[in-house]
This record gives sequence, structure tokens and C-alpha cells, in this order.
Amino acid sequence: MSEHHTDVPTVNWLGSRLSVQVGPVAHGGHCVARHEGRVIFVRHALPGERAVVEVTEDNSGSFCRADAVEILEAAPERVTAPCSYAHPGGCGGCDFQHVAIEAQRTLKAQVIAEQFQRLAGIEVSVDVQPLEPSGLGWRRRIRYAVAADGTLGLRVHRSHEVLPISACPIGAPGVGDATALSRRWPGQDEVEVSVDDAGEVATVAYRTAPERPRAGQRGSRQRGRGRSRPVLVETSVQGPGSLGYTAGGRSFEVTAGGFWQTHPAAAQAFTDAVLAGVQPRAGDRVLDLYAGAGLFTAVLADAVSGGGRVLGLEADRAAVADAHRNLAGTEWVSVQAAGVTAESVAAAADSLGGVEAVVLDPPRTGAGRAVIEAILALQPRVVCYVACDPAALARDVATARQLGWEMAELKAFDAFPMTHHVECVATLRPAAP
Ligand SMILES: C[S@@+](CC[C@H](N)C(=O)[O-])C[C@H]1O[C@@H](n2cnc3c(N)ncnc32)[C@H](O)[C@@H]1O
Repeated sequence: MSEHHTDVPTVNWLGSRLSVQVGPVAHGGHCVARHEGRVIFVRHALPGERAVVEVTEDNSGSFCRADAVEILEAAPERVTAPCSYAHPGGCGGCDFQHVAIEAQRTLKAQVIAEQFQRLAGIEVSVDVQPLEPSGLGWRRRIRYAVAADGTLGLRVHRSHEVLPISACPIGAPGVGDATALSRRWPGQDEVEVSVDDAGEVATVAYRTAPERPRAGQRGSRQRGRGRSRPVLVETSVQGPGSLGYTAGGRSFEVTAGGFWQTHPAAAQAFTDAVLAGVQPRAGDRVLDLYAGAGLFTAVLADAVSGGGRVLGLEADRAAVADAHRNLAGTEWVSVQAAGVTAESVAAAADSLGGVEAVVLDPPRTGAGRAVIEAILALQPRVVCYVACDPAALARDVATARQLGWEMAELKAFDAFPMTHHVECVATLRPAAP
């Protein structure tokens, strides 16, 4: 939501406490309230509640940010947060600990509908499907921050401040209660703990250096999402160098610290959704963009065997090396080390002599107009888009609609319970003439 009221007086409510009526949920883990002509994005609240909110961020624009610090009239979906770190000023990792789990999925469905309505002009109604475990104990990879005294913790919402913690209740066994939490990590900046299907735990410590400011950024204060990312200077691994997973009847090895779907049921649910969306046929030529360690490439391999090919593109070289290991023995499929661009998509399709289907699973920023245009220019039968951000998905679907495509199906999965995040799988087909 980004409304701009030009007639709003220049005020700054930072630190003020205001009594507000809380309105609908918005993308990003907060609800929308209005006060004296301004929008307030309120965390720790629920639609329909009356609350006293404390303003935590205000740039004197049309909106500011606040935490609900006192609930005057509670919504029926409100529960006591199971995590003691989830409260105003506390851990920024979870947004919906104060919401009953079924109601969390309803909020996510509302956000998806709002994003598609606003960004793509489509009315959608989707059930967000639960994955088990559906509340706590699911997160199989957590990147902990290191506090100044070397203890591990998680960051406060939209802040560099590290809140030391002794356990993270959404973490899977071995991760949320990692032994790494009980020692200090002097000289390190982040410590990522991951667990695999067999319960093996890998711990990767990262030492980083601040990114050199780009021209024009020098001296500017960076806050929230706009801050620059640190540059990796060193990693050290404790435990196994790679972790093992199964999905779609296949086994995968992923280098410690590499990408794998974090919820234990996600890889299977997403591969099922991709296969249902693509409906691959023997002999199909398929592109798997942003292929990671080869999850979708591998499950599509079996479906297209008998003359078909699958070609993945992936930018991370360690993931490409994992994919090569994971795809050994299926010489009709491969993953290339390449960034996904309009040019690399066209070149990959050329090398296959055409494509019948495209699967894409981009990072949070989505694929973007140029890549969507390049994909659709190949005139595949179907495109299956796996998305961790409904806003980026809706924006890219809008591009596809402008080019004569339609969204034939949309599925959504609660792959990140307690947070505002949600995974969508959209199937796109050429619109009927
Ligand atoms: C959400 S993950 C999906 C991986 C895989 N589909 C899976 O489910 O395991 C996104 C992947 O895109 C890769 N990536 C990010 N930006 C990229 C780009 N511009 N070009 C190619 N790959 C990229 C990341 O390294 C990561 O492996």
C-alpha cells in the first residue's frame, strides 16, 4: 500500500502513542490504520481491533509505522504469542505470533487477493494450504546474527540491533535449539544453522565487511530494506559439508549454507504443484529458471524422459555444482551456471531448439518485465511460476496479461507459519483467442 496524500501536514509522530481503529491487513506483516489523514502501518495488531499504538518510524510523509502496545478491543483471532521474543520492540522474525494459525492463513489469503487486485487487476480467491508442522518447529535453516558480545540472536524489526535469544520456537529441532546458541562467536557476523532429513546439523559462520558505499550513498543513513548488504569475506563450516534431502522420489545433496526450501514439507508440496501445473509430457523441452540445486529440474526429468530435455539456469556456482551431483545419471537434463536474463533465457531455449514449458522460481524480487517478455516470446505451452513474494508475482502476472497470457491457476502454501511470508504457485497459459 503506498498512498500519497499531498495535503497532509508535515508532522512527525515518532514516539507518540495514539488510539486507533485497526483496519485491513497489508503486505509486509502489518495492518492499516488511519489517523488525522495519515496511514499508520501497525504491527502486532489484527483487523477490527482498537489499540493504542506507539509510532516507531516516521519520515513525516503520508504514512508512518507503529507497534500496537495496548489492545483496547481484541479480535477473536488473537492468541497469546507462543514465543516470548515476539512483542513490540522484540524479535523482528515473526509477524503473526499473536494470531491463531488458521487466521494467519486467512490474512495471507487476503494479502494475496489485495496484491493481485491492485497490481494485476485480477480478482483472486485462494485458500492458503497448511503444511505440517503448521505452527512451530518447522524452520530448517536460520541465519542468526552475532551481537557485539559474540552471543547469537535475531534482529529487531527494521533494525540492525541484535536481540540475544536462547531458542527460536519456529526453528526445527537442531536449528531452533541449536548448540551454536550456547556459545559465543567472536569475530563472526552471522551464523547459519541448517538441518537435513536425517537430522544432521550444519553450522556455517560468516564474517562480512560493509559494502563500500556507491556514489551518492556516502554519509546517508540506511534503514530497513534500503540498507546495503555486507560483502562476504570468510565462511567456516562445522558439521557435515553438505546436507541430504528427498522430494519427488529423488535424493538431493546441498552444500552447507546453500539454498533448500526451509519448511520440511515445502519441497514436496511445491514439486507436486509444479508437476500439476506443467503437466509435462514425454518429449517436452523445459526450462527451469533459478534452478538452485536442481529440485524441479530433477522431478521434471522423469516426466519428460523419452526424447525430452530439461535445462536449468542458476547463478550460484555452489548450487550448480550440487545440481550436477543431484542430476548424475540423467544426461537429458542439466543446470548451467548463468544469471537469468532475457538474453540467457533466449540462448537456453535456442540450445534446446524450442521449449514447451518454463518453470521459474525467482528470489523475492521476482523475474521482472524483461525476463517475463523473453519467456513468453518462446511461446511455451505453459509457464509455472513459484513465488515467495505475492507482490512480485502479481506484478509479473500483470506483464504476462499485457502480452496475451492468463493465470489459469493459483495455489498458495503456508510455508512460513508465524511470519507474513507465503509461497504461491501460479500456472500461466496463453489466453484463449
Ligand atoms: C527461491 S530459490 C529456488 C531454487 C530451487 N528452485 C529450489 O526450489 O530449490 C532461487 C534461486 O535463484 C538463484 N538466483 C537468484 N538470482 C538469480 C539470477 N539473477 N539468475 C539466476 N539464478 C538466480 C538463487 O541462487 C537461488 O538458488
